[in-house]
Amino acid sequence: MSKPANIGIMTSGGDSPGMNAAIRAIVRTALFHDIKPFGIMRGYQGMLEGDIKELLTTDVSNIIHRGGTILKTARSKDFMTEDGMKAAYDQISKHHIEALVLIGGDGTMRGAVEFFKRYKIPAIGMPGTIDNDLNGTDFTIGFDTAVNTAIWAIDKIRDTAEAHDRMFIVEVMGRDAGYIALNSGLACGAEYIFIPEQKEMMQDILTSIQDDRKRKKMTNIIVVAEGDEFGGANEVSALIKQSIPDIETRVTILGHIQRGGSPTCVDRILASRLGHGAVEALAAGRTQEMIGIVNGEIVFTPFASCVKLQKPIPDDLLEMIKVLAK
Ligand code: F6P
Repeated sequence: MSKPANIGIMTSGGDSPGMNAAIRAIVRTALFHDIKPFGIMRGYQGMLEGDIKELLTTDVSNIIHRGGTILKTARSKDFMTEDGMKAAYDQISKHHIEALVLIGGDGTMRGAVEFFKRYKIPAIGMPGTIDNDLNGTDFTIGFDTAVNTAIWAIDKIRDTAEAHDRMFIVEVMGRDAGYIALNSGLACGAEYIFIPEQKEMMQDILTSIQDDRKRKKMTNIIVVAEGDEFGGANEVSALIKQSIPDIETRVTILGHIQRGGSPTCVDRILASRLGHGAVEALAAGRTQEMIGIVNGEIVFTPFASCVKLQKPIPDDLLEMIKVLAK
């Protein structure tokens, strides 16, 4: 395919810090290549409704440091119907958009696979989710910021936990993925981490907590991913209290605070490199792939592989946590 004259840019699914930095990089790289960039508002929903506008270089001024997304975002159910995809295709054609850059997570890439089975508009995906659960990149845009927000919060919780000799069970985001829990837990010295990817030996953990108490280690931080097997921090707390009734526990659910805020340096640079690379890739005729960074190098992974393969949680980190938190 020759270089597209017009491209559409969209953010979809849960927002993540760094999406604005990505949009800025895409727009400016497109303009550098004499490609006209169009912003598609509210993800696939805005695509099918025709909520699309041309973006000028000034539209992306002063956004590199801002959380959220100037294009807004949504999880569209309508798009997953034949009529929805047809409407999206009609709107793209109406605006003479010849290629797409799609920023989002797992759902965004799945949507892209279905859309391109039917309508052959070239597209490059960019991993934008705080969950870090996409195959084909070491890190997704927003993950570093989210983890740093969780660390900031858990450090404060540890102060009060220590002062009161309490156990705190902190719930972090991650419906299907434990990366935020694993990384924030490791960085905050959490004693136990519950993640969806791993089944916990609850009895062993309860015994270990009782041993801790016998040796006067009264403060424990447990980091729980919201999608863990027990159902979240409240459920884990209830299970512990059932077996050790005299233990004082408190639950903190960090929630959407992890999705907002100014992106870290790591996320701004990742978003800029990937945004720049995505447009260069489209201009060079690549399509149907997600751009990522693995071991510091830009790589491309077919959409179908990003969504099908589960990114493995590093077992060595899980083992290390057990050693370091004793
Ligand atoms: O996918 C990102 C994420 O923040 C998950 O960690 C979380 O489970 C989900 O989105 C929450 O989605 P919503 O904001 O739609 O409730």
